[in-house]
Amino acid sequence: MKKIVIAIDGFSSCGKSTMAKALARNIGYLYFDSGAMYRAVALYCMQNGIIANGEIDTERLRAAMDNIKITFGTDEETKAQITFLNDTNVESEIRSLEVSQQVSRVAALDFVRTALIDQQREMGKAKGIVMDGRDIGTTVFPDAELKIFVTASAEVRARRRYDELVARGSNPDYSEILANVVERDHLDQTREVSPLRKADDALLLDNSEMTIDGQLQWLCEQYKKIAEQ
Ligand code: DC
Repeated sequence: MKKIVIAIDGFSSCGKSTMAKALARNIGYLYFDSGAMYRAVALYCMQNGIIANGEIDTERLRAAMDNIKITFGTDEETKAQITFLNDTNVESEIRSLEVSQQVSRVAALDFVRTALIDQQREMGKAKGIVMDGRDIGTTVFPDAELKIFVTASAEVRARRRYDELVARGSNPDYSEILANVVERDHLDQTREVSPLRKADDALLLDNSEMTIDGQLQWLCEQYKKIAEQ
């Protein structure tokens, strides 16, 4: 089997990271969550007063980029990915609502993207990786051997987020969630730098009607077709 790079991009809340992790585990590849890197930069800004009242001090952030070191490790017990910011485990902090609210502003800055894309390319040098994000197949690895673009209807994604929140004990409003999903789709697709779009050579996976097992099986089949060539 030849070692390849697998790029998985797509809309928010469509289960990209669940499927990317499952695929990587199944075929013995390393998994990288590029969104975690943008989240770690946003956390750094919050910890160092570079974001205050929703405003980013872009000049301070530009000067600080060389001091932001993001690395990944693995939790021995759960085998889950852990994100480190300057050697501190920040995996749980980067998933907080506060970080989620700030990260898209940080991810829209061209100098942040350039720095992170360089690191992402370094991670893929030896191949044998699955990376998920928004611009992996278009910008980070335009030559990736396998590219998947994942989508599901806005209603299905809103329903999944609604169910997740209910399972965590909240009492969410479905129409509010749906409006947020539609708005984020619009922002992701219309931002100036690296907007979300399907690479011409990416396979489209609409998982609205698929089970998690069904998706994994489909992904493994696509991987085999290419890696066995
Ligand atoms: O996938 P996520 O929700 O963890 O992504 C966090 C943010 O980073 C989100 O605003 C989209 C952005 N992002 C990006 O612009 N490019 C990527 N390759 C990955 C994530």
